[in-house]
Amino acid sequence: MPELIPVIKKDEIESKIVDIARRISNDYKDSELILVGILKGAFVFMSDLMRRLTIPVQIDFICASSYGSGTSNSGDIKLTKELGIDICNKDVLIVEDIIDTGSTLLYLIEYLKSFGPKSISVCAMLDKRERRGTDIKIDYSCHVVEDGFLVGYGLDYAENYRNLPEIYHLKL
Ligand code: IMP
Ligand code: MG
Repeated sequence: MPELIPVIKKDEIESKIVDIARRISNDYKDSELILVGILKGAFVFMSDLMRRLTIPVQIDFICASSYGSGTSNSGDIKLTKELGIDICNKDVLIVEDIIDTGSTLLYLIEYLKSFGPKSISVCAMLDKRERRGTDIKIDYSCHVVEDGFLVGYGLDYAENYRNLPEIYHLKL
């Protein structure tokens, strides 16, 4: 039986979102902000984050898949849902659940750049640095975590556990 070890509790998740939402609301108060969430994992985080923003905002999602049903990045990234709104000359904030090696994010930044946005920044719920193979800047990150496979609060293992309200380490 896989074991679930608690890593980040509900109140810690919430208080970081309040902090980050305040920073984002301040940093983008004079711009046209578009949040682009990366499905499926980021939708829980994005839904909590966007409701804490105090500035006007538009949202969209793109869907990228790289892991199949395993726990390590295959490096082969597929876009299974494309961007649906116009981001030309707008300020884009990518909203990710977790950044691990960084290769998904690099790919998505290049994809989004092709639509001519004014700026692209990155907001991540979790920053897992141990296996980072790329030099990327995460502008807003809630929690830095150790290596290991995490589930819950949108994060899955083979499509399971996304509904858990807190974040757990999955020990297989
Ligand atoms: P990267 O391309 O290695 O940075 O992987 C990014 C994507 O892999 C994330 O958006 C997640 O969907 C998934 N991922 C990476 N680490 C974990 C984890 O610990 N649990 C669940 N999904 C993960
Ligand atoms: Mg993801």
